Amino acid sequence: MTSYDYQEALKHAARTMVRVKNPRRLLKMIVRFIVREVNLTHASIMMYDPLKSRYIFVDSQGKLRIPVGLVKLDHGNALIDWFSHGERRLKLKRDYLVLSELSSWITDPEIVDRRAALKTCLTQLKVVMETLKAAVCVPGFYKEDLLGVLLLGHKLNGKPFSAEEISFFQTLANDASMTIKTAEYREDILAKNVELEKQKQELERRLQEIAALRKKEQETYYQIVMSLAQEVNAKDPYTAGHLKGVERLGLMTAQEMGYDLTGHKKDVLVASLHLHDVGKIGIPDHILLKPASLNDEEWKIMRQHPLKGAKILEPLTGFKEVANVVLHHHENYDGTGYPSGLRSDEIPLEARIVAVVDSFHAIISKRCYSKGKPIEAAFQELERCSGTQFDPKVVQAFIRAYKRTYANGKYKGESETRSTAA
Ligand SMILES: [Fe+2]
Repeated sequence: MTSYDYQEALKHAARTMVRVKNPRRLLKMIVRFIVREVNLTHASIMMYDPLKSRYIFVDSQGKLRIPVGLVKLDHGNALIDWFSHGERRLKLKRDYLVLSELSSWITDPEIVDRRAALKTCLTQLKVVMETLKAAVCVPGFYKEDLLGVLLLGHKLNGKPFSAEEISFFQTLANDASMTIKTAEYREDILAKNVELEKQKQELERRLQEIAALRKKEQETYYQIVMSLAQEVNAKDPYTAGHLKGVERLGLMTAQEMGYDLTGHKKDVLVASLHLHDVGKIGIPDHILLKPASLNDEEWKIMRQHPLKGAKILEPLTGFKEVANVVLHHHENYDGTGYPSGLRSDEIPLEARIVAVVDSFHAIISKRCYSKGKPIEAAFQELERCSGTQFDPKVVQAFIRAYKRTYANGKYKGESETRSTAA
């Protein structure tokens, strides 16, 4: 084989290696390639098996091939030890072993004189190579790790290996080591990706479970809150139908104002109209149901209900806007309301609507201590407080919508009674 042939053979081998994804198959291809291109008694490769912590033969071809699977070398073997640590002992950098050179080293006084241990080591090496019928051994490294050893038997023509041939085997061994490590790395990454994908699916499944539980929890809590609102309503025997009436009037007013009555916005408004007084569940009955005007101290307690209502709604993650409306449904347009003293557009529109329809209901409703006023009187009261307590736009929209809606009939709520609009 000429110099040109080796270069071409290496190029061909390199191209083949790139295509081969299976490391074991790659090693077999290399062994067959060497036996075919160079006439040898055998070509063999042993590789480190991390599971067995030994170097085992993965393939051997040729007339004097080594039985694969029978020969295993551990870290204490002279050959493995040499390629792992030999350079330091000999203080000569040798990346391969040639049997004929070993023999000359053993008898070279420059190398082995005064170093009996080295002579013993080299002798053991020679025995191993002779046992394995190897003329040349070439290690394959990845970084500092000895991945495997390429063993080459004697040339059939009896000639020694040239430096060029050994260089060829070295390049082949190094390229194969890199290819194997890359393939292993790729397999490792693939395995990790599969594991990651499994973990991701498991995580998604658990998240879905948690989301379902959370949804269920939220639905349950919402039912509880609605029950509380009903309970507040039911406490006062004069408030039957109040929530339905407030919802109807509120939606009517919002529509008149061009409020978006689809989807989420409508949900917020309806929930606000129903839940604005839910905080009254936390007000003692002797204040809530007092059949007379409240004194200063009682008013102070009664005025806590917007804040209590917002607190009740706090755990409902989808009810942040509703909680904000509940908190501010007793703000006045001129900033004199409670709890925050917001004014004008600072007050959520839904809260300004709740304020008007809730007060209207209070004015027209009959209580045990006061008689409900006629509709016209209620309109006059709303207009009197327009710009101070109420948003003028909401008042006007409410009256317009009310008159148009009930022009030909009596509003059902007119006959209804309700509790104090605190
Ligand atoms: Fe209220």
